[in-house]
Amino acid sequence: MRIAMIGTGYVGLVSGACFSEFGYTVTCVDNDAAKVASLNEGKMPIFEPGLEDLVANNVRAGRLSFTTDLAGPVSEADAVFIAVGTPTARHGEGYADLTYVFAAAEEIAKSLKDYTVVVTKSTVPVGTGRKVQRVIAASAQKGIEFDVASNPEFLREGAAINDFMRPDRVVVGAESERARNFLRELYRPLYLNETPVLVTSLETAELTKYAANAFLATKITFINEIADLCEMTGADVQEVARGIGLDGRIGKKFLHAGPGYGGSCFPKDTLALVHQAKQAGAPLRIVEAVVEVNENRKHRMAGRIINACQGNVSGRNIAVLGLTFKPNTDDMRDAPSLAIIPNLQGAGAKVRAYDPEGMPEARKLLNDVMFCDSAYDTMVDADCLVILTEWNEFRSLDLDRVRGLMRNAVMVDLRNIYRPEEVAAAGFNYTSIGRQGAQPPKGARAVTAGGR
Ligand SMILES: NC(=O)c1ccc[n+]([C@@H]2O[C@H](COP(=O)([O-])OP(=O)(O)OC[C@H]3O[C@@H](n4cnc5c(N)ncnc54)[C@H](O)[C@@H]3O)[C@@H](O)[C@H]2O)c1
Repeated sequence: MRIAMIGTGYVGLVSGACFSEFGYTVTCVDNDAAKVASLNEGKMPIFEPGLEDLVANNVRAGRLSFTTDLAGPVSEADAVFIAVGTPTARHGEGYADLTYVFAAAEEIAKSLKDYTVVVTKSTVPVGTGRKVQRVIAASAQKGIEFDVASNPEFLREGAAINDFMRPDRVVVGAESERARNFLRELYRPLYLNETPVLVTSLETAELTKYAANAFLATKITFINEIADLCEMTGADVQEVARGIGLDGRIGKKFLHAGPGYGGSCFPKDTLALVHQAKQAGAPLRIVEAVVEVNENRKHRMAGRIINACQGNVSGRNIAVLGLTFKPNTDDMRDAPSLAIIPNLQGAGAKVRAYDPEGMPEARKLLNDVMFCDSAYDTMVDADCLVILTEWNEFRSLDLDRVRGLMRNAVMVDLRNIYRPEEVAAAGFNYTSIGRQGAQPPKGARAVTAGGR
């Protein structure tokens, strides 16, 4: 089986590499020549655990290659996947910009030689598959047979390979029996794990993806608001989350209170869904509220840090650990840090930051931040330490060393990775999310004004 993957970003590169691992011959196409050149040198354009080895092994085996030329691989492919970006349109009310999808569809159409299944993997609003069908029909050579299918991707950055290889389900939207059979065959390697393959209409597959992301974003936002209520009432959000999460109808996942969701999918997909629902005359009021609450939350987090600094960060040094929207990725798209850090700077703070993988991208997006070589480097003379992303290496800091480096022993843990008693016992004023603050024991000097 031969596959052409159009778009070699997070989704295209991971899916392409995983399909080649199934034994198929995959050509990943991207119109970003620098990205293709670096892939051809064995350098990954993104940080994703396990990806470099997976790519190297399959390139070596002759099953995986990279090119900027779309026509060749498409003309030889049994299936062409569209995995280009669908960002929020710049000037609009949140709808998805489908320019890249339609441009790719038009280019694909011109190169089709015989029957091919064109599969949209990008997250696209309901109805896009039909439009892709029309675009291809208008540009393909007369008499060429093709089918359009939808196969939304549910992988999570940071665990993308495992998610692709062992998904909870595969969703396939296709109309003709020929396309349905082709896609069932394509995913046959997953039958060993008894992965459910749901075969639906194009529209149902497209909406399933948005509904899944909107539901997960709602779950996160729900627990974040419960965390606020915990703070006002003396309850503990971690215990509430456990108490509800053990209920099989609710489930444990996505119940970690934090600074608000970010990333390359939830913010844009919730916006696009809200927009489409309004247009369709079936507004999604819950998702509208989720979008608004989440956006406000990211900005409110700066206030929480300022409060922890006794209401004033002017001229103060703030050490920030973690910049990416979650650990194990270098993706900075819509990361909470991009809202929180400028707000702190606006209040006069000086920010030093460290992230294990996100700094090259963060440098392009954040101004006047001192990027440091290690977590401990950020803390020198800091007045407040903020944990923004729960990378493993931040989970077991040497708290005595941290306190010794800082000017004021104040910690704001927006991911609840420490226990309040433990941090307070080490002499810190500690603020987290949805739990009661903890003060250092009497006699310990949390605010050490000057000196290490
Ligand atoms: N990132 C995720 O975790 C994730 C998960 C599930 C679904 N998705 C969806 O998958 C799609 C892709 O997301 P991504 O994060 O991989 O995007 P990305 O921006 O990382 O990658 C898109 C790539 O497509 C390339 N491209 C654009 N137009 C092209 C064309 N005409 N020909 C060849 N290449 C072209 C770009 O150069 C870029 O490298 C989006 O719709 C997204 O919502 C993303």
